[in-house]
Amino acid sequence: MHDINPLARELNKQIRTTTPTMYSLLSDLGKRIYLPKGILSQSAEASVNAHIINATRAVALEDSQLMSINASHEMMSKLSPESIYGYPPILGNTELRKQWQTRLRTQNPLLTEAQISLPIVTSGMTQGFSLLADLFVNAGDTLILSDKCWGNYRIIFRTKTGAVIRAYPFFNSEMCLNIKAFSQRLIENETDKVAILLNFPHNPTGYAITRHEAQQISDAIVLCAENGCNILVMVDDAYAGFWYDADVLQESLFGMLVGCHTNVVTVKIDGATKEEYAWGLRVGFLTFGLPENVMHPIEEKLSGLIRANTSGAAQVSQTLLLEAMNSADYDQQKQRNYETLKARAMKIQQITQDQRYENLWDVYPSHAGYFICLSLKFGNAETVRKVLLNEHGIGTIALNGTELRVAYSCIDLDDIEMVINKIAQVVQLQV
Ligand SMILES: Cc1ncc(COP(=O)(O)O)c(C=O)c1O
Repeated sequence: MHDINPLARELNKQIRTTTPTMYSLLSDLGKRIYLPKGILSQSAEASVNAHIINATRAVALEDSQLMSINASHEMMSKLSPESIYGYPPILGNTELRKQWQTRLRTQNPLLTEAQISLPIVTSGMTQGFSLLADLFVNAGDTLILSDKCWGNYRIIFRTKTGAVIRAYPFFNSEMCLNIKAFSQRLIENETDKVAILLNFPHNPTGYAITRHEAQQISDAIVLCAENGCNILVMVDDAYAGFWYDADVLQESLFGMLVGCHTNVVTVKIDGATKEEYAWGLRVGFLTFGLPENVMHPIEEKLSGLIRANTSGAAQVSQTLLLEAMNSADYDQQKQRNYETLKARAMKIQQITQDQRYENLWDVYPSHAGYFICLSLKFGNAETVRKVLLNEHGIGTIALNGTELRVAYSCIDLDDIEMVINKIAQVVQLQV
């Protein structure tokens, strides 16, 4: 088991001082767990001080309001008490599960004929990862993860479960996905079991893979499987559908991996969170790349875990999602929101890559999703973040010393130039 993080140690010290009995009751996990400083604390700071623009949160805003699908918003008053307050089945509303599966097949041509399970509803995608960690990962097991990634993976798999993370650099020197480093991690692996987590469109960079890269990822996994290793591949599709670049794969890598080798179990983790502009509804899905007829015992085990945990995702959230998906103008509303985000993505890419900023930062390739990420050539991203926030009222996220993540999903098109100019001004001061 890894060392206790200093933040957890500090919390333990406080608990031991104020309530020693409570401290002596803490479990091992209770002693290890803490809330990392990072995106959440920076977002909390921004929610107080970012009075001009708050581009920290992974949500989508328009005119300072959350973007939404009107169909689901207007639905609330029309729902039956049962569909709001009743208990849903433990694995989720059956009709919703079927429709999500149909939708996966429609949106992912590689899945049209593929053997996939009925998606299982989770309380947000986070719970999906947590369930997978509980079901498949022991303390000391290996998880292969890129160095740039959504921070919650580390809390779930390392802090909670005790997995050993074998990170690889996300980019190579050509600023493409570092497939060589990824493959190397698999080749080096000496255990007979490994978990892999892949996320495209990617948080924090917005990188999406080409079909060729997807094939290379699949080849590396199959090679490792052929050497006898059993592999769990988790495909995080939080930002599926938000592809703005015609050259990248416009569907999930999951489709490429389903059935790729008998030693590989692939799971797609996705949800309403981003795809349906429903961050707080807390509806996620786990879909296994396995035929439905083998799923019964796995579903029973997941039911046990869900029962022992949240006992299921909220009924009203599932109802709202299903109703919205069935509404007449659902597709148009989604398309409209997509076009809004795409226009921002195009604009922010064009502006951040302008020659006048080439001495200030490199822009990581961003083809999709909610974010753009700048690699600053001067100064410290945390200092830049603080100045932007406290002196200009602009919230951004500082990562890894020199990287600044900007959620353009939260910036109206007309404000993008102003935000980038302000960032440039502040970075310039660091020279
Ligand atoms: C890469 C990635 N995966 C998953 C999630 C979130 O999932 P949820 O809010 O449904 O738990 C996020 C949210 O920011 C994310 O960025």
